[in-house]
Amino acid sequence: MKEKAEALKAEISSYQVSDKEELEQFRLRFISRKSVISDLFAEMKNVAPEDRKEMGMVLNELKNQAQAKFKELIASLEKSESESSAAPVDLTLPPIPDTLGSLHPLAITKKRILEIFERIGFNVSYGPEIEDDWHNFTALNFPENHPAREMQDTFFIEKDPDIALRTHTSSVQVRVMEKEKPPIRTLSPGRVFRNEAISVRAHCIFHQVEGLYVDKNVSFADLKQTMLYFAREFFGKNTKIRLRPSYFPFTEPSAELDISCFICGQKGCKVCKHTGWVEIGGCGMVDPNVLKNCDIDPEEYTGFAFGMGIERITMLKYQINDIRLFTENDIRFLSQFKPVN
Ligand code: PHE
Repeated sequence: MKEKAEALKAEISSYQVSDKEELEQFRLRFISRKSVISDLFAEMKNVAPEDRKEMGMVLNELKNQAQAKFKELIASLEKSESESSAAPVDLTLPPIPDTLGSLHPLAITKKRILEIFERIGFNVSYGPEIEDDWHNFTALNFPENHPAREMQDTFFIEKDPDIALRTHTSSVQVRVMEKEKPPIRTLSPGRVFRNEAISVRAHCIFHQVEGLYVDKNVSFADLKQTMLYFAREFFGKNTKIRLRPSYFPFTEPSAELDISCFICGQKGCKVCKHTGWVEIGGCGMVDPNVLKNCDIDPEEYTGFAFGMGIERITMLKYQINDIRLFTENDIRFLSQFKPVN
């Protein structure tokens, strides 16, 4: 019996397995209740009493050895399995193409406009896209019969009381003025909606950024200097600006803002239609009636406001000739845009 135990000991210590099947063979032979070791324990009853103690120790040692070996075999099998399942590395393969996305061109432009104005103390405010008549028209001094209040220009959702998709983000400025006391320096970016036929130049949904500055002693010179600062930061340091008299119900006086054509350097090209100037937005001094409507005393405070279309500025900057490209989600178009400085 002792020799048997010795032989098993040697067998266990040199045992190797290469798969689960062989591991199971080991378990059946040395660990299970019907194992050769259990058989030896069963034979203990035939051992002479004086040898029992010694035999017991030999068998226990054998049992422990079998169990330790079993654990060892499981571990080595797991290790070799995980090594063989890891994909082999083929160093000759071409690298995986760079799938990093790029920002939408409109997002790039918006971000840059906000950054430029944040540097001179403007904060950012947001408002609802579904707006009431007061915030979109009446508080902004639109007369009762103004054409923008017609169905063909505005998407109305309800009539009496009038609820519409906002036609400009000036509505957000009314909300800010109602809530806050001057000094106010805020920018309101967002989507606006107008009932226009979609074409190369126009869309019924587009984006604006509007700015508002209200404080004591704000003058037209402040407006002009702020517009010049923006134009130079955005379009380049040699940019010139021109303010042409215009009309908006909510500003008086009002102006259209032109910049010197940065494409041809004012020599004349298709983009500036050979005038040397391109229009980028509207601006003016906030009409005293608008301040009054928002409970701000026009005797004490003055302000300026400006607004520009993000699509228009992006089209100029990147020389994009069709506004519809912004909403077509064509990856060949979108992937060309990386942020520019
Ligand atoms: N709200 C005007 C528009 O939608 C733009 C504008 C804003 C003009 C502020 C003057 C002052 O066209």
